[in-house]
Amino acid sequence: MEKLVVTGGTPLKGDVTISGAKNAAVAIIPATLLVNGVCTIENLPNISDVKLYVDILKSLGAKVKWINLHEVTIDTREITSHEAPLEITSKFRASYYLIGALLGRLKKAKVGSPGGCNLGQRPIDQHIKGFEALGANITVANGNITAEADKLVGTNIYMDVVSVGATINVMLASVLAEGTTIIDNAAKEPHIVDVANFLNTMGADIRGAGTDVIKINGVQELKGNATYSVVPDQIEAGTFMMAAVASRGDITIRNCITKHLESITAKVIEIGGHVVSNGDHLRVWCTDRPHKANIKTLPYPGFPTDLQPQMGVVLSTADGISYITESIWESRFQYTAELNKMGAKITPSGKQAVFEGVEKLQGAPVYATDLRAGAALIIAGIVADGVTEIYNINHIDRGYENIEEKFKKLGAKIERIEE
Ligand code: EPU
Repeated sequence: MEKLVVTGGTPLKGDVTISGAKNAAVAIIPATLLVNGVCTIENLPNISDVKLYVDILKSLGAKVKWINLHEVTIDTREITSHEAPLEITSKFRASYYLIGALLGRLKKAKVGSPGGCNLGQRPIDQHIKGFEALGANITVANGNITAEADKLVGTNIYMDVVSVGATINVMLASVLAEGTTIIDNAAKEPHIVDVANFLNTMGADIRGAGTDVIKINGVQELKGNATYSVVPDQIEAGTFMMAAVASRGDITIRNCITKHLESITAKVIEIGGHVVSNGDHLRVWCTDRPHKANIKTLPYPGFPTDLQPQMGVVLSTADGISYITESIWESRFQYTAELNKMGAKITPSGKQAVFEGVEKLQGAPVYATDLRAGAALIIAGIVADGVTEIYNINHIDRGYENIEEKFKKLGAKIERIEE
């Protein structure tokens, strides 16, 4: 068991470099199953979800060679299994992409139910609806999702909700299908575009990714012998933006795509912070106590739910009363109980939480209830008086590369301690 111990009170200063996007990487790795060849993926974040996914591919017959911590070569010419057991798939959410990828490649998949952060109900009905529309038979029984098809045929699919996972999964299943698939009401997150770009590099014909209508013209096969670099992580960059503002710091965030950070930049400026964007980097600083603000999480290009807890820390010490409305996940305010242990005054009620800004937070022992909650607690520890001990940090390691080293480089006093 490890914990992070943070001694607060230091405004963050300096440069931080953003890693490849977790949520793009965990879709691109299974997407390699569609390629009949060898491909090299660069700029992978060195996080536990990525390592786990690469191991799953090995268990399916792929030959994998790590070039370094961020680059892997995956040879998927011989895939020997279409099954991924529950004890592995339940360790993380993105294991659901194995269904679309294996179905697309082998026309069959038997995959255990996905796990991941406990954010309330996380149905996959839209994934299943998409696979069935393409001609697959889907059975959900004994913790497994089984998908089978004689052939997959492109069709028009309207998503009832805007879903990142369902959009990517249906894209994966339809790349090698006969004819044209149109996904309407598709999600538009940067990682959707990244997965489409990866597949197109390998010979797929996907158009419109990044808009709400994606058209996939099925092709006979995808060929490898290409190298693809994962997009920088929008959420990691946003996490450091929040940390800069909360700590009244001044940091430069390198290797990010500033266009992906527009909704976050707008809110930082609204609460009194400063942002200067410059191509692939961004300077963020804040000298005074942030002003109150109202936030509503929305699918991209709206304010991301994955930055809601980090913004919650900023607003917990803002001047005035702020309201956050969470419109994606039903249980994403669990972190507020932990922040209240540190002296915050937050009252969650259903989809909304009221943040009565306090002057200061005080260090306390707290528990990371999920990945982004964990990142938020690190920021809270950095701005609080005294010492904060953060437990359950395995959640954080699933999605942030070297997080304490990156914060330390910015001047934070943070240590990882083996209990
Ligand atoms: N939904 C359905 N039916 C479905 C799929 C989704 O009703 O079949 C609903 C969900 O309940 C939710 C909304 O649609 O209310 C959006 O869910 P989405 O499918 O977009 O979420 P996801 O694919 O399960 C991904 C990220 C999450 C991120 C969300 C929203 C991955 C591996 N996970 O989850 O990331 O919060 O999109 O942007 O890409 C995180 O990184 O901390 C994280 C939780």
